[in-house]
Amino acid sequence: MREQGIASADRQEADQQFEAALRPRRLDDFTGQPKLKENLAIAIAAARRRGEAMDHVLLFGPPGLGKTTLAHIIAAELGVDIDLTSGPVIQKKLDLTGMLSNVRDKQVFFVDEIHRLLPDVEEMFYSALEDFRVDIIVGQGPGARTHSLPIPRFTAIGATTRMGMISAPMRGRFGLLLRLNHYGVAELQKIVARSASLLNITVDPAGAEEIARRARGTPRIANRLLRRVRDYAEVRGHGSIDHDTAREGLKVFGVDAKGLDKVDRAILQALCERFGGGPCGLSTLAISVGEPTETVEDVYEPFLIQQGLLMRTPRGRVATPAAWQHLGLLVPPSAPFNTATNDAPSLFS
Ligand SMILES: Nc1ncnc2c1ncn2[C@@H]1O[C@H](COP(=O)(O)OP(=O)(O)OP(=O)(O)O)[C@@H](O)[C@H]1O
Ligand SMILES: [Mg+2]
Repeated sequence: MREQGIASADRQEADQQFEAALRPRRLDDFTGQPKLKENLAIAIAAARRRGEAMDHVLLFGPPGLGKTTLAHIIAAELGVDIDLTSGPVIQKKLDLTGMLSNVRDKQVFFVDEIHRLLPDVEEMFYSALEDFRVDIIVGQGPGARTHSLPIPRFTAIGATTRMGMISAPMRGRFGLLLRLNHYGVAELQKIVARSASLLNITVDPAGAEEIARRARGTPRIANRLLRRVRDYAEVRGHGSIDHDTAREGLKVFGVDAKGLDKVDRAILQALCERFGGGPCGLSTLAISVGEPTETVEDVYEPFLIQQGLLMRTPRGRVATPAAWQHLGLLVPPSAPFNTATNDAPSLFS
């Protein structure tokens, strides 16, 4: 048990190092997200021209799309330092006071998982974001006093996978709200080619495209698949990755033609085979595949929705005809969205 824990901690660290090595450092190296990049480039140029701290930025979107990467890029483009922390790490108001009183003029202060800040810490963060002040308590007991201490103007960057959990007052304090969307195949193919050249892996365009097509719209997954296919190519093939090597390698690792992994397929199977296609509540679905509800909602569901395999309705999750097809099943007459019986409208009533 303990050894297993250590092994997985090791692997996590190796994964983190691998990711850090592949991180683009400048906005020009960051592939995709054209609108977001344009907004960001303007904000960065304006801040630089004025010689001021840039507006606070809130980055949101599913895991692995580049939020942390962008935070580092913003700091690099602004030519300032970056301090990193994350919502669950800040346990007390005093922790935040300590961090903020060390902030230097115009620098970036990155708060990952900002939706997980404790309520009283969050409230204190508001005045730092808005008025650039922190409250400190001087003295003890009945004589203790609160002083409001000015801090330098800085740029806060918040990142979250759960925009729905960000309170309105928090959201309102960020000048730039930037959403990251899933990437297209051509963009992911470019990312795979770039990573391959950084890692000295030979991959031809068709091989890169095959990996890109199965990466669930996510650069992190594209990079991980590349690494696994490289292993496969070294053991089974001649070391370089072409279309066939990519396809065979991905098959061995349980990634199917649409890029769905085992958990994706388990979700669709549960929905279609056990719950007749739905509607089925999210938590029931999560339990039936043995994953935390939050993971299903943040990681798996957005991709399945984007692929047109699953829908959210007021009554629960529903499998689309494409989901049945993908599993190689016939759409039963009783299934929601079966056009023959056509009881779909009732779902929305
Ligand atoms: N646009 C991109 N171009 C090239 N590589 C990218 C891009 N976006 C992300 N990556 C790569 O994907 C990996 C994951 O990115 P990152 O850590 O920034 O995601 P994240 O959105 O912060 O995820 P999480 O929500 O899990 O924290 C990094 O290794 C990075 O190199
Ligand atoms: Mg991150």
